[in-house]
Amino acid sequence: MRSQTDNLGGLNHLITLDGLSREMITAILDRAQTYRRVPGQPAYEGRELAAVTVANLFFEPSTRTRASFDLAARRLGAHVLNLDLHSSSRVKGETMLDTIYTLEAMNTDVFVIRDSEPGMPEFLIDHVAPHVSVISAGEAHLSHPTQGLLDVLTIRTHKGRFAGLKVAMVGDIRHSRVARSTARALATLGATDLRIVAPTMLLPSEREFEGAQRFTRIEDGIAGADVVMMLRIQKERMAEAASLDEAAYFQEFGLTPERLLLASPSALVMHPGPMNRGVEISSEVADGSHSVIREQVNNGVAVRMAVLASIAATLTRHRRPL
Ligand code: CP
Repeated sequence: MRSQTDNLGGLNHLITLDGLSREMITAILDRAQTYRRVPGQPAYEGRELAAVTVANLFFEPSTRTRASFDLAARRLGAHVLNLDLHSSSRVKGETMLDTIYTLEAMNTDVFVIRDSEPGMPEFLIDHVAPHVSVISAGEAHLSHPTQGLLDVLTIRTHKGRFAGLKVAMVGDIRHSRVARSTARALATLGATDLRIVAPTMLLPSEREFEGAQRFTRIEDGIAGADVVMMLRIQKERMAEAASLDEAAYFQEFGLTPERLLLASPSALVMHPGPMNRGVEISSEVADGSHSVIREQVNNGVAVRMAVLASIAATLTRHRRPL
């Protein structure tokens, strides 16, 4: 695979947080902080992406990631085009690479891609032109790098540190690209106490999440946790989906106000969305005082602006002269 950084260390692509240094992640978070505006404030408007064209290619459903990449690019002055599977010529049999080459021929500079096929972002960065960048907006169950970054920005904003934090991820860890990317970002930033909490059938293989403690009872897994991150059951990635009893799952693994009392009194409750209320989380907790779920969404725009701006600064070095 081609490197995600160029020979001067600038961010060229972002398809995984694996191998990204603590310094690089911190620089992206610091930059995101400067773009962050809370709801009610005027949004940041800049020209960092002037004369840059960003194509959002979403071949799996999305609300948050797609909307926030679109807003992030426009707020930095980019031209943006949005394609989804149903309105593109991929339904007529065109390959992803031919779709990319077609849009490359229209001077598209940055491709933001969500796809269910493992390995697709890596394949693409090996084939695009040197002046073109690829950002993964979610790769199968494997990777969701900007979600990992927005999660650690949210934690940093509230906790100010990663060392010594107890972070519990609860739910369908096996099929979660969010869990994989956020765990990677946490480890790189120095969080060493990660607990993964799931029924046995939803735990990942022993080779993954190295160093994390594993729990099959939510009460044990969230005890004393500083951060409780709830995850959706990814029915679309499971053969057993039809037989899953959601009411029974909520009884055993749902985050309720009573269970939340077991975590630290200052615990953050997080969820990447989309939430299934009454399946993995109760409405009282999702909308309660510990919840930072909408803040995660707000940080998603800022993080995607920071990633796009960092990549734009690198790609200008690789453009052909007029
Ligand atoms: N968290 C997340 O990726 O949400 P969407 O699927 O709505 O983009």
